[in-house]
Amino acid sequence: MVRKLLAGVALGLLTLAVSSQAFAQADVIEKRQAAMKNNSADAKAIKAAVEKKDYATVETKAKDIMGTADKIVSLFPKGSTNGKTKAKPEIWEKSDDFAKHAKNLNKAAGEVAAAAKSGDETAVNTKVKALGDACASCHKQFRAEKYSE
Ligand code: HEC
Repeated sequence: MVRKLLAGVALGLLTLAVSSQAFAQADVIEKRQAAMKNNSADAKAIKAAVEKKDYATVETKAKDIMGTADKIVSLFPKGSTNGKTKAKPEIWEKSDDFAKHAKNLNKAAGEVAAAAKSGDETAVNTKVKALGDACASCHKQFRAEKYSE
């Protein structure tokens, strides 16, 4: 009787542990997708600001992307694949390469900020294009076309 009860409690705890882990993963996935959405909002703001030659805004938004880029690797903890995600397994199989892409984003955004600060229109245009490429090349390799569920 007691044994049965204990087994029941153990099973209950196990279920609880598994489901709270699933919740934790959903949180992790949502958090990184929110960071990516922020990247996207920044990139859009940069494009709009470039058209208006509002280089102060370009610089601020580019610096925000630099900050996000620094966090990318930690936003993708190993095994965080349970949930609605486009993260490909290659992120963890080729983690050095993934980290390199995150670093490259930081560099590309830094160059946009520097160009904006200098006010050199040609440089701003070139660096903004390179920033877009830094997003796209990582997505091409590490982001799936569709959500996992
Ligand atoms: C180091 C790789 C990497 C870089 C660089 C990167 N991304 Fe992403 N991005 C990803 C991955 C991986 C996902 C899929 C995340 C998921 O679904 O869990 C993603 C998802 C997204 C999403 C979809 C978010 C959602 O809600 O599903 C947007 C939008 C996005 N990225 C925008 C950007 C923009 C804009 C940049 C450049 C300023 C950028 N990303 C740079 C890897 C990257």
